[in-house]
Amino acid sequence: EKGNYRHFMQKEIYEQPTVVAQTLNSYVRQADESVALPQIDFDLSAIKRITIVACGTSFYAGMVAKYWFETFARVPVDIDVASEFRYREPVLEEGGLAIFISQSGETADTLAALRHCKENGQTIATVVNVPTSSMAREADLILPTHAGPEIGVASTKAFTCQLAVLAALAAHLAVAKGKMNRAEEQEVVRHLIEAPAALNAALDHDDDIAAMAPLIAPARDVLYLGRGPDYPLALEGALKLKEISYIHAEGYASGEMKHGPIALIDEEVPVIVLAPSGPLFEKTVSNMEEVRARGGQVVLISDAKGLAEAGDGCIATIEMPDVHPLIAPLVYAVPVQLLAYHVAVVKGTDVDQPRNLAKSVTVE
Ligand code: M6R
Repeated sequence: EKGNYRHFMQKEIYEQPTVVAQTLNSYVRQADESVALPQIDFDLSAIKRITIVACGTSFYAGMVAKYWFETFARVPVDIDVASEFRYREPVLEEGGLAIFISQSGETADTLAALRHCKENGQTIATVVNVPTSSMAREADLILPTHAGPEIGVASTKAFTCQLAVLAALAAHLAVAKGKMNRAEEQEVVRHLIEAPAALNAALDHDDDIAAMAPLIAPARDVLYLGRGPDYPLALEGALKLKEISYIHAEGYASGEMKHGPIALIDEEVPVIVLAPSGPLFEKTVSNMEEVRARGGQVVLISDAKGLAEAGDGCIATIEMPDVHPLIAPLVYAVPVQLLAYHVAVVKGTDVDQPRNLAKSVTVE
């Protein structure tokens, strides 16, 4: 079943251009460049607040989506990890939409949070990869990701498909609320349908990433930095590395470095910086300089323009295609997945079945 691939995780990373295209087929109409969601039988324009709840990688997809819901639709978003959500007595007002994101649709904490929201009058939407799952059955609106079965314990293709669905949902909500006009909707759709080709272009750098994995494999700690919608990608990169290579890793918002974690920096700590060129680039570069001034070993992941500006002095660089900021989180997922994958291969760990982890966490 793995075909020519050595591991399911590798196969699933490579499936992303295809499965993201498959998912987008159900959420956008190419002919008239419009967002096309499944039948929604409640009034989307009446949604006043969104609550997003998920765990792990699915939670990071939710963090990216918060940017989209707020910038496109101007609807305030609360987001929580499921294990914290229920016990903090969240204020759930009428007119709220609660979105649960889960590959399996069975994660116990997320399911319990869903039931809590349902009891408290929220409209329930689920973004799930398993359409027959408990979370799908209990939802008012099911938004399936069409990633196909994900076998590797480390989630990869489910994540990028979740992002595709959430971007389409955010645009749809923005249209329903009158915050996005037809031309803007078409622009969003045009960018989304560029994602599969951009994912392929990112995968083209697999060999470069494999070549630099031996630089990271001996590290005891690794930091990942990103800003804006790429901050959750830094968290995702760190989670992937922890899960399968057992290297301690942390993701940080670039600007937060100087408030503490910079104390950890020395020649032994690789710092992976995710920074597509754009309005936030200069700021991230200055955070990167702070790291380098303390002997930090920086790996910069950026596009050609960003690398030309700031790539000198890094221990390695990874070039990404030059993409619109909307799809950057999907594209930048690829290098962090591949980096974790190759480091794990160098270390000889069990990539698909890492120790202590289960694919689906059905206990609280
Ligand atoms: O099935 P779910 O999306 O609800 O799973 C949530 C997390 O358990 C999951 O994303 C976990 O963090 C992965 N192992 C990450 O690679």
